[in-house]
Amino acid sequence: MIRNTRSAYGIVAIALHWTIATLIIGMLGFGLYMVTLPIFEPATYSLYQLHKSIGFVVLALVSLRILWKITGITPDLPAEMPVWEKLAAHLGHISLYALMLLMPLTGWLLVSSSPLGLPTVFFNLFQIPHLPTPEFLGQKADVSAFFTAVHGWAAYAFIAVILAHVGAALKHYFISKDKVLQRMLSSKA
Ligand code: HEM
Ligand code: HEM
Repeated sequence: MIRNTRSAYGIVAIALHWTIATLIIGMLGFGLYMVTLPIFEPATYSLYQLHKSIGFVVLALVSLRILWKITGITPDLPAEMPVWEKLAAHLGHISLYALMLLMPLTGWLLVSSSPLGLPTVFFNLFQIPHLPTPEFLGQKADVSAFFTAVHGWAAYAFIAVILAHVGAALKHYFISKDKVLQRMLSSKA
């Protein structure tokens, strides 16, 4: 089953969910580790290039995922779920989508406004252009510091929301004993 139905996720939604989840969890760890390294080492520079390249892959996949979602249907939550839990699930998913976009976009904006002006070379293949710097936020260095701070704080917010999301998935499996976790693992669930 390629597309979602009222009761099940299709293989495209499932494949995108797990590919993006794996990349993002890896990128959160990678980012936090990378910023502890000596900044002017050539090896650090290569790791930053890798971080930025994977970040652009995530941005492309998330854009595709959002397109796929808005052109299809989303399975209904189990009817027996209380209204507040359904609301919490929707708010959680909206936050996850917002953070999936915010992370790569603030990364792109912070490097675009950096006074260092370093290029972003996608997996050593081609250069990705810088975005125009939003002037109204101040001097280039202030703009870059602003987006660096948002990128960093959003990462911590992301970790918290992911932990809550995983907690909710486990609650569905072990406590509510419904099919919510299984249907994100197989389109036949
Ligand atoms: C899935 C997308 C991404 C995730 C999850 C992610 C995650 C992170 C994390 C956790 C940090 C460490 C933050 C800190 O402690 O200060 C970081 C730093 C950084 N990220 Fe990303 N990132 C993503 C995409 C990008 C993209 C697309 C770019 C650039 C095109 C980028 C550029 C950077 C840079 C330059 C830093 C170092 C900032 C500093 O100097 O403190 N990131 N990232
Ligand atoms: C970076 C990590 C993750 C992100 C960004 C993420 C994001 C999302 C989003 C946005 C949805 C809603 C999909 C829709 O539009 O219907 C979703 C659904 C789901 N996720 Fe994740 N997820 C992540 C990791 C995980 C992990 C590790 C698990 C398992 C423990 C998990 C289990 C599920 C389940 C079971 C659903 C289906 C909910 C339903 O049927 O309504 N996710 N995820």
